[in-house]
Amino acid sequence: MTSLKRKQINWLEILVQCKNNVREQITPFLGAQEQVQPELGTGAGGDPIRRIDLAAEGAIVDTLEDHEISFTLVSEESGIMKTGLSPEDHFVTIDPIDGTTNLMRGIPFYATSIAVSSAPIMNAVHAALVADLVRGITYTAQEGKGAFRNNQKVTPSRTESLEEAVVGVDLCTYKVQRVVSQLTGLIQQVKHIRHLGANALELCYVADGTTEAFLDIRGKLRTTDIAAAWLIVNEAGAKITTPDGESLKNRLGAKQKVSFIAAANQELHKNIVSLMKTEKET
Ligand code: IPD
Ligand code: CA
Repeated sequence: MTSLKRKQINWLEILVQCKNNVREQITPFLGAQEQVQPELGTGAGGDPIRRIDLAAEGAIVDTLEDHEISFTLVSEESGIMKTGLSPEDHFVTIDPIDGTTNLMRGIPFYATSIAVSSAPIMNAVHAALVADLVRGITYTAQEGKGAFRNNQKVTPSRTESLEEAVVGVDLCTYKVQRVVSQLTGLIQQVKHIRHLGANALELCYVADGTTEAFLDIRGKLRTTDIAAAWLIVNEAGAKITTPDGESLKNRLGAKQKVSFIAAANQELHKNIVSLMKTEKET
């Protein structure tokens, strides 16, 4: 990816337009969740497709096409779609609605997530947006320029002590016994644990200091869900790695899975990784 191509496009402005269009296009579907949903098959990521997910995806694609951008879409719903004459110039990785179960049940915590990269790899993401669609809070980041929450620069928590930490943990898997056995030491030490049901947004909570850490070591989260939040966490100055402490270089795709530990600062991250390592060895 040449930096020249990047400079020609004001990605943040376009991503905000995408988000505004998503909000507009999903509005007619909100509140209609109890109605019987038509069968639309299964999305690229393996979950049933809902009209609201397709409306959100369509809103993002339409906005990009309005700007005559040539891109490869990497979506949880439609998988890979190439648009324009040079689709390899930009990869746009989206989870149109992160937290669909919350949305369908009226739990007010769900988001849209959009990441732009020069290659379909996590650490090539250079522009990102995650927007809380309920509260109208938008997180954005650009490589080397920091992370923002409604245009205000964010910084993560400075808390280094696990005893003072609020830690998000996604335990939603039938392999819960294996996951919990690796997390027992951590859960015993932290002040509070949480899982709110939209992992992209929960990662943004680590970026802006709302929580101290968020972990998903199930091995079942799609990389499409966290591509944007990965950049937001990094640009805020927090740390997100594999459970072994390595950098995330996962391929972006609806079928590609990722496990991670995100923590507000180096010290907290080190403590969490070493606690998990100890549990693994015992
Ligand atoms: C889901 C949410 C949820 C996590 C699931 C994801 P979706 O995203 O992030 O918190 O537990 O694994 O699939 O399906 O609503 O986009
Ligand atoms: Ca989704």
